[in-house]
Amino acid sequence: MTEWVNAKVIKNKKWNQKLFKIILHAPISPFIAGQFSKFSIKNHENKNIYRIYSYVNAPNNTNLEFCITRIPNGIMTNQLYRLKPGDIINISKYSAGFFTINEIPSCEILWMFATGTAVGPFCSILQDGKGLDKFKKIILTYATKYKDELIYKKLIQKIQKKYYNKLILQTITSQEKDPGSLQGRIPKLLKNQAIENNVGYIMHKNNSHVMLCGNPDMVKDTTSVLIKYKNLQKHFRRKPGHISQENYW
Ligand SMILES: Cc1cc2nc3c(=O)[nH]c(=O)nc-3n(C[C@H](O)[C@H](O)[C@H](O)COP(=O)(O)OP(=O)(O)OC[C@H]3O[C@@H](n4cnc5c(N)ncnc54)[C@H](O)[C@@H]3O)c2cc1C
Ligand SMILES: NC(=O)c1ccc[n+]([C@@H]2O[C@H](COP(=O)([O-])OP(=O)(O)OC[C@H]3O[C@@H](n4cnc5c(N)ncnc54)[C@H](OP(=O)(O)O)[C@@H]3O)[C@@H](O)[C@H]2O)c1
Repeated sequence: MTEWVNAKVIKNKKWNQKLFKIILHAPISPFIAGQFSKFSIKNHENKNIYRIYSYVNAPNNTNLEFCITRIPNGIMTNQLYRLKPGDIINISKYSAGFFTINEIPSCEILWMFATGTAVGPFCSILQDGKGLDKFKKIILTYATKYKDELIYKKLIQKIQKKYYNKLILQTITSQEKDPGSLQGRIPKLLKNQAIENNVGYIMHKNNSHVMLCGNPDMVKDTTSVLIKYKNLQKHFRRKPGHISQENYW
């Protein structure tokens, strides 16, 4: 049974009609960077429904931040979009998920790939910083349709300063050209080595671990490319490999 606590809305920043971030204060139990929380609301039949959201903030930050895509006719996201400072919603006291750095074997290069709001767990992990000493290089690829949806680019650039040259950011926009971003989709840009050429590092099974987060089609298609062209394997606790996945739906 999920234990719910009241969360008070501190801020609801709407970037556009589609993307928004909410800041909550709530007496949750400690979580690990990369984990997610559950939100509960009542639907139009007055039944409680819940959905899952990843923390963007580091665990030591009491401003609980969530980056959310508003889904047309989506039950939860349209209610969340309308939240105002002072409103109260239910969130789970305990967090969950294994998309965390303690689950990743040490290696030379950690590759992080995110679509859209799924950059959230990586922002949490990078702001936290715990456990990242076991990697020499971290390369975060952040893919959205349009450049104005790269809403965490500035934050990541700020985090980069903390890591000196250890953290590389590669942005991708799929539906328009953006100076500094590659154009297209992650699997194709891995297959034709555009990402590796741009960041200046080559992915090998002996030097790399890959974390994939977001659109399940991206996760599936990218995993296929990594298995076929890079000879990488999915990572499990009982059978270590090189690919860790988090599907958002
Ligand atoms: C581990 C995990 C972490 C998640 N973290 C986040 C998060 O931090 N931010 C967030 O916005 N969502 C996140 N989600 C998705 C979230 O749980 C809901 O599914 C989403 O907000 C839709 O809720 P809804 O009731 O409005 O839409 P529904 O009426 O339930 O419609 C669901 C449909 O919307 C689409 N969809 C769902 N989520 C997304 C998304 N993020 N981007 C694009 N299309 C989507 C899919 O087509 C899906 O079938 C996460 C899901 C998982 C499993
Ligand atoms: N409320 C609103 O006003 C509004 C407006 C528009 C959309 N939406 C909703 O928002 C959601 C879309 O949000 P989003 O753009 O953040 O997420 P998304 O559809 O997951 O797209 C994010 C990125 O993932 C890429 N992608 C998709 N499939 C892929 C695959 N198989 N392999 C590799 N990359 C892939 C996309 O490329 P491509 O561009 O090539 O697909 C895009 O660059 C939809 O569910 C839609 O319903 C809401």
